[in-house]
Amino acid sequence: MHDPLLDGGVIRKLWISETDLYRDHLLRLDGESRRNRFGGGVSDEFIRGYVDLSVGLDAVIHGFFVDGALRGAGELRSLGTTLAGEAEAAFSIERAWQSHGVGTALLERTLLAARNRGFRHLHMACLAENRRMQQLARKFDAELTFDFGSVVGEVQAAQPTPLSLMREMVADGHGFATAMLEVQSRLLRTV
Ligand SMILES: CC(C)(COP(=O)(O)OP(=O)(O)OC[C@H]1O[C@@H](n2cnc3c(N)ncnc32)[C@H](O)[C@@H]1OP(=O)(O)O)[C@@H](O)C(=O)NCCC(=O)NCCS
Repeated sequence: MHDPLLDGGVIRKLWISETDLYRDHLLRLDGESRRNRFGGGVSDEFIRGYVDLSVGLDAVIHGFFVDGALRGAGELRSLGTTLAGEAEAAFSIERAWQSHGVGTALLERTLLAARNRGFRHLHMACLAENRRMQQLARKFDAELTFDFGSVVGEVQAAQPTPLSLMREMVADGHGFATAMLEVQSRLLRTV
């Protein structure tokens, strides 16, 4: 199978200064993907407001980059103090990069981040007809419960361990190095 991760695609956490890249990626989603990502049709204006709110709420966002362009994202967001230990995860891959293992890699990184932050339950809401997301969640032993046309996947995140913390640090170190190279090549392109 064609593997975009081996073809130069990289996954790393988004920096706070990259909010615009996240917004533009979500705006680029085709109609069906946008509906699946947000559980229904939403306007461009909604997406702009959503991104501002998410980044303000300290979401951990992993991005999938190809040649410096953000083509996929996995977002992890706490459900707040009243639901301590619970978080919500959501994924978005642009159509040309779907079904190539990117969602699997993003979910893996998101689960590691959830575990290291002490989240016990990870909610992933998706429409009932979204078979691909359900298949993806099932790969990680998610328990799926059906609720009025939408599906809520719950993953029991294991406790953090020194090794799991180390794995995230190593992944971030690699991500930082890659990001620096990207910034340098963007600068070179503009001179
Ligand atoms: C749902 C989504 C995140 C999945 O990511 P992806 O990169 O396309 O998925 P992967 O390639 O990692 O495949 C995951 C599993 O889904 C299944 N799958 C892949 N392509 C499929 C297809 N066309 N139809 C049905 N199932 C499919 C497979 O079981 C696959 O695992 P496997 O290859 O090990 O057998 C992505 O397609 C997407 O962003 N869709 C639009 C937005 C969305 O639906 N978000 C989810 C709600 S938050």
